[in-house]
This record gives sequence, C-alpha cells and structure tokens, in this order.
Amino acid sequence: MNNQKNFKALLLSRDADAPISADIVELTADDLPQEGDVLVEVAYSGLNYKDGLVLAGKGGLVRNYPHIGGIDLAGRVVESADSNFKAGDEVVLTGWRVGEAWWGGYAQLARVKGDWLLPLPHGFSCQTAMAIGTAGVTAMLGILALEEHGIKPDSGTILVTGATGGVGSVAAMLLVRRGYQVAAVSGKADAEKYLARFGVEEVIAREELAEAIDRPMESARWAGVIDSVGGEMLARVLGQVNYGGSVAAIGNAGGVMVPASIIPFLLRGVNLLGIDSVMQPIPRRQLVWEELAKTLDFDALDAITKTIALEDLSEYGASILKGGVSGRVVVALA
Ligand SMILES: NC(=O)c1ccc[n+]([C@@H]2O[C@H](COP(=O)([O-])OP(=O)(O)OC[C@H]3O[C@@H](n4cnc5c(N)ncnc54)[C@H](OP(=O)(O)O)[C@@H]3O)[C@@H](O)[C@H]2O)c1
Repeated sequence: MNNQKNFKALLLSRDADAPISADIVELTADDLPQEGDVLVEVAYSGLNYKDGLVLAGKGGLVRNYPHIGGIDLAGRVVESADSNFKAGDEVVLTGWRVGEAWWGGYAQLARVKGDWLLPLPHGFSCQTAMAIGTAGVTAMLGILALEEHGIKPDSGTILVTGATGGVGSVAAMLLVRRGYQVAAVSGKADAEKYLARFGVEEVIAREELAEAIDRPMESARWAGVIDSVGGEMLARVLGQVNYGGSVAAIGNAGGVMVPASIIPFLLRGVNLLGIDSVMQPIPRRQLVWEELAKTLDFDALDAITKTIALEDLSEYGASILKGGVSGRVVVALA
C-alpha cells in the first residue's frame, strides 16, 4: 500500500461547544490514528441510529475530534500485521466502539484491530453484510435471546416495536422466516404496506402503546417482544407479556427512562433480556452470522435497503434521529 495515496473521508470537527461540522476531505493512510494492526479498504459502511447521534454530535459518544464516524464497515484488507488476516481478505466489522471511540467506516480506508474483524461471512457480499450491519446483528441477537429463553414459533405472537426501523425491520423479517407469528408497532402511515411484504399481518399504531398506564398488567398477548423503542412503550408492553415470556430490550428510540411496574416480573415470571451488540465475543458473532445466512431472505433485505454516498450522510443521519428512515441504509465508499 502506498501510504501517500489519497482517500476520501467524512471528517467531523468541533471546536468547544460550537455545532459539529462534517466535511468531505482527502486524507492519506498516515493521517489515520496509529492504533490498529489491519488496514482495510472500505467498500461499504452503514447507517444506524447511533451513527445519526455521532453525526449530530449527540449522546456524548465521541470525546475526541477530528473524528470519522461509521460504526460498521466491510471491505478488503490492504495490509495486516495480524496473522489471522492477509491482504486481499474480505472482512466485516460491527461495533467494538468503532465510529465512536475509534475512527470508523465513513472513509475509504480504516485502520482497525484484527481482533474486531470477521472474515466476510459465507453467502454475504460487502453490501449485503452492511445491509445487515449492527441493526441486523442486534435483531438476530434479540431473537436468539428469546429462543434461548424457551420461545418457539408455537409459543405465540412476537411483538416488534419500532418495526419499520433498521432493527425492527430486520427482526420482523427474520422472525417470519423462522416461522413466528409477528405483530408490529409503528408510527409510520405506510407501515402496513411496508411490513406486509415480510408477511407481518398485524400492525398496531404507535399511539396505542406509546404511554405507560396505571394498571401494572393487561391481558397477556405476547410470547415475546423485540423492543427497539424503550421508554414508556417498553413499560406498557411488559404488562402484556404472557406467563414466562421474554422481552429483548434493544433500544431507546422512544426514551431511556422506563416507568415500569415490578408486578409482571413477580406474577407472570416475565424476563427482561438486555441485548448489547457492541462487545459481543467473536464466537457469538459467528453464530449470529451463521443464523442470519440460514434465515435471511436476501431479496427482501435488498428491497428495504437504500444505498447512499458519503455526501448524503448528513441528511440521512438527521432523518434517522427523527424516526424518518425505513429499513436499512448502506453507504457506498468504493
Ligand atoms: N443494544 C444494541 O446493541 C443496539 C444495537 C443497534 C441499535 N440499538 C438501538 O436500537 C434502536 C433502533 O436502532 P435503529 O438503528 O433500528 O434505528 P431506526 O432505524 O431509527 O429505528 C428506530 C425506529 O423506532 C421508531 N421510533 C422512533 N422514534 C420513536 C419514538 N419517539 N417513539 C416510538 N417509536 C419511535 C421508528 O419506527 P416506526 O416509525 O416504525 O415506529 C424508528 O424507525 C436505537 O435506540 C439504537 O440505539 C441498540
């Protein structure tokens, strides 16, 4: 690799409390932070809710500027001092605080740790791996957690909240493919049509479940829940879970404080399962990608994925924070 060759990156800068600025710049490999033993030519990155926060300078996720966001990346190894990888290998990376504490995938070149990389999983291209990205990996982690707590397709209906978002869309799609009956909560006007393409027949308007209520429990309706909304909606649905059912708590798009009652845990033995995708060990990640390869409808994933350029990220980053993005967004770097 010629370390003086220019590559394109979206560089975030911030002076003190001034608003963040995002500029497309030309860098060389020498400009990349030196931590990391593998240089990757990035073909695709993705857009997740957390990327939206980083692009907006919100959430206290980035301490040091200038910074390059992008919590996911897929591409080809250019140089490696890690014996597990060599030049030419195709690799994928999600999480590990890349794009937050470390420079990430919104650049044509990234220097990362070999410990964070997986060989591109069988059956995936760099583009489809990024259409999955952190959102899809986390959706599968949530489904595996429900199944490891005894939920099977004949246990009853699984509720997916934030269902047209990245995590929600992939979760709904995967659950149907695994044989589950799925109900979805969405705030979008076109959600029924959007979700029908995966075979989701029951769509509940967000307003119906948006607020916690005084009663600690309601009629039991859900064998399990994949929740990317948190806040009052999580508190509300906890009171609707069947005896012994489980809720995978994934996200906080609707709020971080959960005004919930303890009663569903005590009287119905409900399980609240915390899901973290960022620091999952490599064997768990390998299992997730194997399950994804077995379960995915790649055509359906393609149909809900939009490909954008680095130049479009500011617009899409702002939109995802307002719940304005349906499905998945990948960023083409090559
Ligand atoms: N635990 C982890 O490791 C992990 C990994 C990935 C993501 N997450 C978290 O999971 C959440 C979803 O991430 P994502 O990338 O899928 O984001 P996303 O694409 O923006 O999806 C979130 C969806 O939630 C719904 N929503 C948004 N604002 C809402 C509100 N105020 N009240 C109720 N519903 C609202 C919207 O769906 P509808 O319009 O269909 O209602 C939106 O599309 C985020 O909080 C993210 O930080 C966590």
